[in-house]
Amino acid sequence: MFFKKKNDAPRVVPEHIAIIMDGNGRWAKKRGLPRNAGHAAGSKTFKDIARYCNKIGVKHLTVYAFSTENWKRPAEEVEGIMNILRDYLKDSKNYIKENIMLKFIGDRTVLPDDIKELMLTAEDDSKNATGLCCYLAVNYGGRDEIVHAVRDIVNKGIKAEDITEDTISEHLYTNYYPDPDLVIRPSGEQRLSNYLIWQSAYSELWFSDVLWPDFKAKDLDRAIDEYNKRNRRFGGI
Ligand code: IPE
Ligand code: IPE
Ligand code: MG
Repeated sequence: MFFKKKNDAPRVVPEHIAIIMDGNGRWAKKRGLPRNAGHAAGSKTFKDIARYCNKIGVKHLTVYAFSTENWKRPAEEVEGIMNILRDYLKDSKNYIKENIMLKFIGDRTVLPDDIKELMLTAEDDSKNATGLCCYLAVNYGGRDEIVHAVRDIVNKGIKAEDITEDTISEHLYTNYYPDPDLVIRPSGEQRLSNYLIWQSAYSELWFSDVLWPDFKAKDLDRAIDEYNKRNRRFGGI
């Protein structure tokens, strides 16, 4: 997919961008607001960035919304995040009008029943969209995902000698779409925090000090420009 830069040089838009939406809490703290105000602002940024990805022709966008480790946070914060997710899901019909397909990755079995229902409805309502495929990682952890994959493989009775890298990939939540080309983490932290740890084996990583609620289309453009300068070798020369 090509996208014209100002100087008319074509640039490659990554097929799959993954984003760790981090820095909501610090954004709120800086303003003397409760942490959940940061999560609400982060949710708005997510919608803007997804819309922008759809516009410039990104095919897959996977965003980290809630990790398997985030349950450690105070109950009030977890509840606030779940409420923001609820509001987003109830509103998702509007989003679907924009031709964006919505899917969820992660272990949803432990989520509140109404959220599970809303997720299924959003997935079903948007399944024929032909634009951006947008995946929200909710109660997602890369190690947890691999544990689930191994259990499935063992339960199916697949023989040890028949297990390949593809067998593992096919049993992950992401089994039906390509690995991320570019992983973006705002907020100044430089770690994956258990995000897509199998899938990002050869992804390009890009970090920014901008806190997620302040992240704008121009920041994404900067990441894509940097991506265009990278030389992906995949172990070759
Ligand atoms: C990311 O923002 C959102 C979630 C983890 C749910 P944080 O809440 O981690 O924000 P900081 O890192 O505390 O600033
Ligand atoms: C990663 O951010 C999870 C999400 C953005 C949903 P965290 O804020 O939880 O990660 P750590 O604790 O700084 O590694
Ligand atoms: Mg954080």
